[in-house]
Amino acid sequence: MIVGSLAAGFLTNSIPLNGRSAPSKYRTLRELGRAKGVSIGAATSAAQLYEDRSFADVLLSECDRIVPEWEMKWSAIYSVQGRVDLGGMDKICSFAKEKGLRVRGHPLIWHARLPVHIQAEIDAGRAKVLLKNHVSFVMSRYQDVIDSWDVVNEAILPSDGNSNGFRSSPWFSALGPSYIHNAFELAREFAPNARLVYNDYNVEYDGVKADAVLSLLKSLTSARIPIDAVGLQSHLWATRRRIEREKFIRFCGSIRDLGLEILVTELDVRENQFEYSTEHRDRVVSKVVEEYLKALLSVAVPKELCFWGLSDRYSWLSKPQYNPENPRGYVNRGLILDEKLARKEVWATVFSLLDKIK
Ligand code: XIL
Repeated sequence: MIVGSLAAGFLTNSIPLNGRSAPSKYRTLRELGRAKGVSIGAATSAAQLYEDRSFADVLLSECDRIVPEWEMKWSAIYSVQGRVDLGGMDKICSFAKEKGLRVRGHPLIWHARLPVHIQAEIDAGRAKVLLKNHVSFVMSRYQDVIDSWDVVNEAILPSDGNSNGFRSSPWFSALGPSYIHNAFELAREFAPNARLVYNDYNVEYDGVKADAVLSLLKSLTSARIPIDAVGLQSHLWATRRRIEREKFIRFCGSIRDLGLEILVTELDVRENQFEYSTEHRDRVVSKVVEEYLKALLSVAVPKELCFWGLSDRYSWLSKPQYNPENPRGYVNRGLILDEKLARKEVWATVFSLLDKIK
């Protein structure tokens, strides 16, 4: 891809950032991340990896980690009652093993995308058995390639009105908060060498949610539940919301003080500025990501920095069902590569911030 490679060549040897440029001996985020102890990842799908060669080639140059965007959702695995379909996950993990990539197991236990027949089993009092069977089977199957697991995803939603801000999920309704403890204890049993992660979103914008997440983390660590890290999904907003910077920095400091690592697990920007020029949109996205990562890096270096997609070509935010402010399905330019796989200003911003890590 001429544009991509020219941009790549230009950007890698001399990183232009708002008029400043800095030489670097690293050419890609993967190389730089490896040197700084940061594993660079992207959400993707089996179809993208096996059917879009140009995309897969760029992913291999920029990332050393992949995350299943949907193949590990319960809606994908248990789509047909009585069957367990891990074909998509098997393809993703085979690709990873063949190419020397690591994989994030995402999500293990989540409230969303539960098939109706699974919901019925939970309601019939089989939640604990379901949870154990799923965790043991899936973790055992991929323990040679998945080294980091979102054991529980999005368990906190203060607006649901439960004590301590727990989300009214099918798991919570059936088992109370103990489903979280149970999931992490099983995870340690079946993936003893993996990084066990609690993953959630909006903690950079919503102080009430951040406090509830912190309260959960304190309860887990004080109960010696085996948890290693917190995943900040990092779905940012180009407009309409501003990061509560000082509160967010204190939140990250509290996580670090609990002895937990901090990961960035799903970074992208809901930019929705479709009527503006590409240059303006990309500049805003770059500035939002710069502000966010500078705040985080002032407290900790994330061992995993994963984007919720590598290229705007496949952003979930271009789909109206996930981005209500984009009813006409315009391409959301919230990732580090554009639709043509060319690097954008935000790529140079991320590169420059990582390059400054000592
Ligand atoms: C989303 C995927 O992008 C969609 O393709 C899928 O249909 C639904 O899930 N937070 C998460 C991710 O933890 O699992 C979600 O991914 C996006 C929000």
